[in-house]
Amino acid sequence: MAPSAIPTPAPPPSASPSPDAELLQLLQQLEAPLKNLPQLAHDFEATFHDLALTSTTQFLPTPVRVLPSGDETGQFLALDLGGTNLRVGVVELLGRRSLDTGDGERLRIPTQGSWSIPEHLKSSTAEDLFHWVSERIRNVLREQPTTTADVMELGITFSFPMEQTSHTSALLMPMGKGFTFTNTNDLAALLSTAYTATSAAGEPALRIVSITNDSVATLLSAAYAHATPCSKTAAGIIAGTGTNATCMCPVSKLHASKQPPGDSGDGGMLLNTEWSIRGTAPPLAPYVTAWDRRLDAGNEKPGFQPLEEMVGGRYLGELVRLVGLDVFPRDALPAAMHRAYGVDTKLCGDVEAAATDAEALALLADYFSADGGWGLGLGAAATFRRVCGAVSTRAAALVAAATVGVLGMNDELGDGVNIVVGYTGTILERYPGFKERCEGFMREIVRKRRGGEDGATVTLVEARDGGILGAAVLAAMVKGGST
Ligand code: BGC
Repeated sequence: MAPSAIPTPAPPPSASPSPDAELLQLLQQLEAPLKNLPQLAHDFEATFHDLALTSTTQFLPTPVRVLPSGDETGQFLALDLGGTNLRVGVVELLGRRSLDTGDGERLRIPTQGSWSIPEHLKSSTAEDLFHWVSERIRNVLREQPTTTADVMELGITFSFPMEQTSHTSALLMPMGKGFTFTNTNDLAALLSTAYTATSAAGEPALRIVSITNDSVATLLSAAYAHATPCSKTAAGIIAGTGTNATCMCPVSKLHASKQPPGDSGDGGMLLNTEWSIRGTAPPLAPYVTAWDRRLDAGNEKPGFQPLEEMVGGRYLGELVRLVGLDVFPRDALPAAMHRAYGVDTKLCGDVEAAATDAEALALLADYFSADGGWGLGLGAAATFRRVCGAVSTRAAALVAAATVGVLGMNDELGDGVNIVVGYTGTILERYPGFKERCEGFMREIVRKRRGGEDGATVTLVEARDGGILGAAVLAAMVKGGST
C-alpha cells in the first residue's frame, strides 16, 4: 500500500455545533495517536528496551536462539491453546525438498480439530481445563489413520504468558482473556497428568518436545514458510482475542536474570514480549480515553493489559459499545447496547465493511433482532460505522507503532533489507481492512523516520495456521538440535 493510501484523520470540526461536528469532536479523541505515530513508535521502543532490562513479567526469555532454516521435516502432533479456541492437528513438515520435487507443498495437516473453549473452564481450575484438552487430543489421534506409533511427539503453542527455562518447562503466569485461575503450575506436568488419566489402553503416549508462546510460533511458522534470500522475517505479531509480539533480541540487552547461563553477548534470543501487559502503559497514557478507562474498570483484571484493551478482539466491540452510549440517545438503544460485551467485534467488522449505510442498517437490525431491532434509523447506522472505523483504525495504528518499536529492539530497520513481519490472529486476519491499515501505518512511520526517503519496506505476511505449524516447526528444530 502506498503511504498516501493511509486513512487520514477526519477533518477538524466546523464552528457550527451540528450533531456531526459533535461526533467528529468525540471521535478525534480516538484519532489522537494517528497524529504522531513516529513519536509513538519511538516511545514504545524506549519502553520496550527498559522492560527488557527490568521487567519480570514482560520481554520474557525463551530458549529459542535461531530461526528455522525451512529444511525442518517430520510428523508431529501440534496443539494450540488460544484464548478462544483450542486447535489440535497432526502436522507433517516436508521442508524445502518438497519444493525441489515440484509439488510446492511445505506441510500437510492430515488430521485436525478445532473447538471453542467453554466459558466455565476459564474460571475453573487448570486441571479441569487440561482434562478437557486431553479429551480433544484423543479425538484427533483416534481419527489419524497412520498413527501406529506408541508415542506421539507433541509441540505445544500456548497463548498466555509463561516462565520458560527449557523447551519443555513452562510455568503458567497470570493470564488475561477472561482466564482467572492464578496458581503457578507446570504446563507440561498438567497436560501429561491429564492425558495419562484420560487415555485408554492402546492409545499412544505423548512426549512433549516443545512448548512456546503463540507469538513465537507465529514468527517460526512465517520464517519456515516465507524466508527468502532478499528478505528477513524479523518479528511475529498477533492481534486476535489478545495481542502480543516476538522478536530476536541480543541477549546483552536483557537483565542478567534473563540471559542464558554464561552468555551475556550479542547472540540473539527470541523474546516473548507480552507487550499487552501493564509495563506498556506509559507510551499509551496520552491517548487513553474515558471509554478506555470505563472498559478497564469493568475488566476482571483492571490495569493488567492496557494495550490489549485497546486492540484485542475481545475488546474492540466493547469499546464501540461504550462510545455508542455517548453518541446515541441512550433510551432509544437496544438492550444489548446497555449490556457489558453486548456488541461483538465481528459485528463491528461487518458493519464497517458494509457496502452502503443501508446494508449496515440491515446488519444492525439483524444483530439486535432479539432486542426488537436497531430502531435508530439509517443516520445512526452510518454513525455506528464511523465509530467502528475510529476504534479499529486506532487499534491498527497502535499495533503498527508497537511493531516498529519491537523491530527497534534488534535494529532491524537500519540495514536496508526488506523486513517481513509474520502475523496471526482473527483481527489481523479477518477484520476488514485491518491488516492493510496496519501495514500502511508501519510503512508511513518507517518512511517518516528516514526523512521521507523511500527504502527497504516492512511487509506483513500471514503465518497461516501459525499456532499449530509453529508448534511443529519448533518441535522439529528441537529434535534436530537447532534451537
Ligand atoms: C497473552 C499472550 C498472547 C496474546 C495473543 C495475550 O493476552 O498474554 O501470551 O500471546 O494474548 O494470543
